[in-house]
Amino acid sequence: MKTKYVTIDHSRPLGPQVAPWGEILRAGGLVAFPTETVYGLGANGLDSEAAKKIYVAKGRPSDNPLILHVLDRDGLAPLVKEIPPLVDRLISEFWPGPLTLVLPKSDIVPTTVTGGGATVAVRAPSQPVARALITAAGVPLAAPSANLSGRPSPVTAPAVRHDLDGRVDVILDDGACRIGLESTVVSLQENELVIYRPGAITLEMLSAFAPTRLDTALVTGQGIPKAPGMKYRHYAPRVPVYLYTGETEKIRAALAKTYDSRRGYLVSAETARALPAGENIYIWGEAADAAAYAAHLYQGLLYLDETAAEEIYAEGISDQGIGLAVMNRLLKAAAYQVREVK
Ligand code: TXA
Ligand code: MG
Repeated sequence: MKTKYVTIDHSRPLGPQVAPWGEILRAGGLVAFPTETVYGLGANGLDSEAAKKIYVAKGRPSDNPLILHVLDRDGLAPLVKEIPPLVDRLISEFWPGPLTLVLPKSDIVPTTVTGGGATVAVRAPSQPVARALITAAGVPLAAPSANLSGRPSPVTAPAVRHDLDGRVDVILDDGACRIGLESTVVSLQENELVIYRPGAITLEMLSAFAPTRLDTALVTGQGIPKAPGMKYRHYAPRVPVYLYTGETEKIRAALAKTYDSRRGYLVSAETARALPAGENIYIWGEAADAAAYAAHLYQGLLYLDETAAEEIYAEGISDQGIGLAVMNRLLKAAAYQVREVK
């Protein structure tokens, strides 16, 4: 398959630019598109055959369910058995945005999309191109992250092309994704919210609406997570990653004292100043800026993995707010190799 590469032009209306790709989606094709979290690999979410193509293109296990992307509550309603009042409140507060809701599915959702299960995951992205594409397609879009299984989620269109060139009909380029980490996946159990995957809608934010906890497998790193995707080997760089945790100043001192130019460093600007300058140092942002870490994490890991580094040392941050999602992805990349600095 020859993959088209289309750069979005913001000096012109979006509708006509994405209209042809809405047609392609309705006809069962695959379209890679930007969202505010990461790039998605979209297909008609109500078409079993189209959804199967996603698994083939990504090389993804078919028991790992997909997220359906809609515009709003009206798009959600036909896909689920019911919308409980708590879910309505979450939708009013957080949609459109990076919150994925897991609910019992209605009959129109094919089990190909749900990994054979009785629940479906749905979110309403806020990114304008994503929204224009859903409108043009006129159907919910099943869209996992637009990477090959086992690679980092792409936050730019060239990263999508690296993985999926020749495997999709088109890649829509609208620059870097604002958030940079995948959406928060949450399920409603009794009147409690359970986070299957942490993201930009944080534990603290959800706790304002209902008692909220993390899925136990996320907390312990053991057992089978409720979001099947969390059990598969996630992006594991070629070289070993060591995650440093503890007080910021102590991490900084430890990294400076043991510095070795053969290593790659994923650090804040402040920590970088304590190290010799070099190509082996990727700065994710200012130390207090967890959102900047989220936005640059995957690119930083990719960059360091592709340089000649023998190991990667990553600076850990507080797990408050979006820091929880950052640390969750870092722990996976590091295969839980943590060095706690005392
Ligand atoms: O930000 C995002 O969510 C991005 C963009 C493209 O929207 N999409 C994304 O999709 O990250 P994917 O397929 O890479 O991750 C979906 C996660 C997986 O961990 C999957 O197991 C979980 O959501 N999931 C999907 N349906 C589920 C369900 N019914 N029950 C539990 N977990 C589910
Ligand atoms: Mg993914």
